[in-house]
Amino acid sequence: ATIKVAVLVGSLRSDSLNQRLARAIERLAPPELSFEHLRLDNLPFYNQDFDHEYPSVCQALKQRIKAADALLFVTPEYNRSIPGVLKNALDIASRPYGTNAFAGKPGAVLGVSVGATGTALAQQHLRNVLAYLDVPLLAQPEVFIKFHDGLITADGNIGVEGTQKFLHGFVDRYVAWVRKFV
Ligand code: FNR
Repeated sequence: ATIKVAVLVGSLRSDSLNQRLARAIERLAPPELSFEHLRLDNLPFYNQDFDHEYPSVCQALKQRIKAADALLFVTPEYNRSIPGVLKNALDIASRPYGTNAFAGKPGAVLGVSVGATGTALAQQHLRNVLAYLDVPLLAQPEVFIKFHDGLITADGNIGVEGTQKFLHGFVDRYVAWVRKFV
């Protein structure tokens, strides 16, 4: 049966490197995985007033997450943490209290940046949040990619053999991890 993966990319930028990385992972994945990119750009800022009557766009996000078998977080690092866009989506899908859409869904985090740290610090923050949200996360391999020209093309083609092999290894581990839960 198909394993449905909900993809959350922490960048809204039209030529996002993290979008490219997400696409590269998708291209490496076996056919039994299907990927759905969740829209984060149409969400309002979370406000606890929502809890009385949750906005329909927020309910829709939660339904897509609940319908997924697994999660994939691909995010840039903004000022040594995760972008507000991603944190906002996590807050929205975790509420109202007791209805956290992420609970129990296996996931993994990865990211690419132009800086030498390759989103490592953002990923540590994200892991902290996702532990609280009851997301069992793949521990290894950690995917900290430092971008350079030609590394990943706009359509998700990986230009460096070592990176291709490394990400293939990641996908194998991710699929094995997700299979433990579905
Ligand atoms: C950055 N960038 C960045 N890079 C990094 O390695 N560590 C960081 O803390 C930051 N901080 C940061 C803050 C803000 C507000 C911006 C706009 C950018 C640079 C970042 O890696 C680069 O812009 C990436 O291209 C962003 O990812 P996308 O949008 O290409 O996916």
